[in-house]
Amino acid sequence: MNIPTPHIEVDSLDIIAKTVLMPGDPLRAKFIAETYLDNPPQLFNTVRGMLGYSGTYRGKKVSIMGSGMGIPSIGIYSFELFHFYNVDNIIRIGSCGSYHQDYKISDIVLATEAFSESTYAQVQSGDTSHIFFPAKELNQKIIASAEKMALPIKLSKIHSSDVFYRCDSNQFKETRDIHGCNVIEMEAFALFANAKNLNKSAACLLTISDSLITNEATSAAERQNSFNKMIELAFDVI
Ligand code: HPA
Repeated sequence: MNIPTPHIEVDSLDIIAKTVLMPGDPLRAKFIAETYLDNPPQLFNTVRGMLGYSGTYRGKKVSIMGSGMGIPSIGIYSFELFHFYNVDNIIRIGSCGSYHQDYKISDIVLATEAFSESTYAQVQSGDTSHIFFPAKELNQKIIASAEKMALPIKLSKIHSSDVFYRCDSNQFKETRDIHGCNVIEMEAFALFANAKNLNKSAACLLTISDSLITNEATSAAERQNSFNKMIELAFDVI
């Protein structure tokens, strides 16, 4: 084991918890850690501003760290956490865009599978699959927690895309209709592929922040409110 890694500066295996919650935005990781953890959290990473924190939530040890945007970024951070820091579970808590009229702004979505055109898995391990899956047990726990909290969530196949800005704004319909993806984000595919290769567990919870159908987007206040519910759900699981 080689720690610290090029992207995470902790030189001990005792700091990062077995379960890590991963928002894309490192400042969101800071907000979550400072708002939800029992005591002031321990900042364990500042390399490239990709803030990571450890602490306890209702007495249980947990870490929260940003992943950055896109498959290459989460590919690096989740690999290093799983492989070098012995992390067992990573739950991505992110935002997504809607591809479907029934998937509305502020809805919470749990990924049941992630499709991508990305070559990440093929290059990394020779795995030519374009679909990777979350851990069944983690998803079952998330579904049970959501039921307990009376929080409605939608289960869906998701699209992990390498592209945010497209030349043709209608092109997404092809991915939706051919592959059955109802929402788009940019990270879960690499997270699930790493988890599979390293025999670890991953899940992906998303709130819908914008719609490719109606072009509406959430206000900052709405986004924060639905995001908070999703965070509380993720914390309940750990
Ligand atoms: N595209 C890709 N990723 C996203 C989007 C989107 O529209 N919204 C939130 N994450």
